[in-house]
Amino acid sequence: MRMIAIASDHGGLHLKQAICQLLQQRDMEFADFGVTDDSSVDYPDYALKVAEAVATGRQARGILICGTGIGMAIAANKVKGIRAALVHDEFTARMAKEHNNANILVLGGRILDEQTGARLVEIWLDSHFEGGRHQGRLDKIEQIACRPCGDA
Ligand code: RB5
Repeated sequence: MRMIAIASDHGGLHLKQAICQLLQQRDMEFADFGVTDDSSVDYPDYALKVAEAVATGRQARGILICGTGIGMAIAANKVKGIRAALVHDEFTARMAKEHNNANILVLGGRILDEQTGARLVEIWLDSHFEGGRHQGRLDKIEQIACRPCGDA
């Protein structure tokens, strides 16, 4: 059954724990790809686990958390088919789904308190992609990923 893949580095562990609690409260199944303690790790390793799970369809969508969210977003977006959106507030969380159809939500564990982070996840989960002109723009992003460099 496809569900939500979630992972963090040490900088996002506490927020990941809060979000896992939220997902449990909502009876949503999730696969936790780590980390399980606050030992220092390399965030690209965890971004790759979640991004591959989503890109291959093994998981429907993903959540990634590091200290700022920046590193996780950069790394996850290297995987073809991934639209990872780093969000900071309710507006960007909603837009990430409505306009960008983000299949991975990225949060900064050293930026957001646990209540805000959980709220942003709820907004992203409950919002719907608008399609239409936004789908055309997502198609153009996919084409960028496929074109050889220097062809602009
Ligand atoms: C780890 O110290 C930190 O660099 C990482 O959590 C994240 O903020 C990277 O973008």
